[in-house]
Amino acid sequence: MAASSVGHENWSSRSAFILAAVGSAVGLGNMWRFPAEAGENGGGAFVLFYIFCVLLIGLPVLLSEVLIGRHGQANAPESVRRLARDSNASGGWGFIGSIGVFAAFLILSFYCVVGGWVVYYIGIFAGDLFQTGLTGGAFEGRAAEDVEGLLPGLFGNGAMMVGLNLGFLAATMFFVARGVSSGIEWVAVYLMPLFFLLFLGITIYGAFTGNFGDAVAYLFTFDFSKLTPAVMLAAVGQAFFSLSLGVAGMMTYGAYANRETNLGHTSGIIAGADTAVALLAGLAIFPIVFAAGLSASIGPGLMFQSLPIAFQAMPFGSLIGLAFFIMIFFAALTSSVSLLEAPTAWTYERFKITRPLATVIVGLGAAVLGVLSALSFNTLGEFYPLGFIPLFAETNFFDTLDGVTAKLFMPIGAILTCIFVGWIADARLIDNENGLDGGLHLLWRVLVRFVCPIVLTVILVMGLLA
Ligand code: PHE
Repeated sequence: MAASSVGHENWSSRSAFILAAVGSAVGLGNMWRFPAEAGENGGGAFVLFYIFCVLLIGLPVLLSEVLIGRHGQANAPESVRRLARDSNASGGWGFIGSIGVFAAFLILSFYCVVGGWVVYYIGIFAGDLFQTGLTGGAFEGRAAEDVEGLLPGLFGNGAMMVGLNLGFLAATMFFVARGVSSGIEWVAVYLMPLFFLLFLGITIYGAFTGNFGDAVAYLFTFDFSKLTPAVMLAAVGQAFFSLSLGVAGMMTYGAYANRETNLGHTSGIIAGADTAVALLAGLAIFPIVFAAGLSASIGPGLMFQSLPIAFQAMPFGSLIGLAFFIMIFFAALTSSVSLLEAPTAWTYERFKITRPLATVIVGLGAAVLGVLSALSFNTLGEFYPLGFIPLFAETNFFDTLDGVTAKLFMPIGAILTCIFVGWIADARLIDNENGLDGGLHLLWRVLVRFVCPIVLTVILVMGLLA
């Protein structure tokens, strides 16, 4: 394959595209970040505003991104540039894609750190299952503090953190290096169905054994007073993170879609599936956490600390725990693959090198940043790279990357994408691509031209000043 023909490698079918895009969207963002953010930001108010963001902002931006990619048939910056040129606008708009590619690279670096924790927990639960047998609760005979201490225990072990991080990154690189159909599509087509199977089982299990009523009340009781600008910015950031938006990932995947694919419908399926998984993840995790009498608001520790304690008291706890973390692993891998693909596609097209070489170059860069993120939990715990900015005061390297990408890069990337698609790109080209008709088409135009850029700018500015 010629080095410049990234867009000419295509998904083998529309369902392969959907599985890959859903695979990108569904990941640690749904299972780990969403419940943690909801818990930290007061539950119902955050959740309802999040749904609002997905429908009115995320979905139109998602369609805009895949549309840019499909039109351009190339890596993200090049696709934006092509649509700009075809619209008689400046090729300089390509920088929207460049910012996205850079943000995807940053996210990849810390995403693989958390992916490494997931691998660690798979190992822990597998060992435990071996000891306690199939029917027993997890970690029988061990104190809850012990179980909670597993994560700090891992954090304290810098070498292990780095090793797991690099292992997860290497797995991601393996599939991206193999290319669109035999690598990226392969993981999505095999792992996503398995993910959904496990997810369904665990959700039903959680609903029957846990405190379902409390979880529903917690997630869906809307207390308007809790909806502060900071909560709104967190919800927007979470919506973008979860839908893989503002970082060129969906543009890159859109470039492998063929002309027949209806992008409007496909975007609806992707956003619908992603949101359903996030909400169901909340409805699976919180009942288990509440049934064990634990707090909802402990943040990132929710999935890695509270949940394993809850598994202790449950029949088949070891088995469910193992299944749970394997499921998370599948979801995380299909997402990290898309995070690596965006910068890789750019690197190999831009510098006309082979895909495997580009994968290695990007992967090595992510490894360096990843090590700094992994060490944020121990040796570099006191290192606050953006400490001079109030929003990031006392924020370590890992949390700085997470915050900067979700709260700055993603919303800014989305605002610029909306301005570009809504105002700069030739409307006739856009109308040809979007697959919407009548009222939906009009609605989408209004959202992209006016609602999204204005609402996003207001939330961004208010959230940053708060
Ligand atoms: N959406 C992914 C998740 O929820 C993360 C991601 C963000 C992937 C941006 C690609 C691009 O885990």
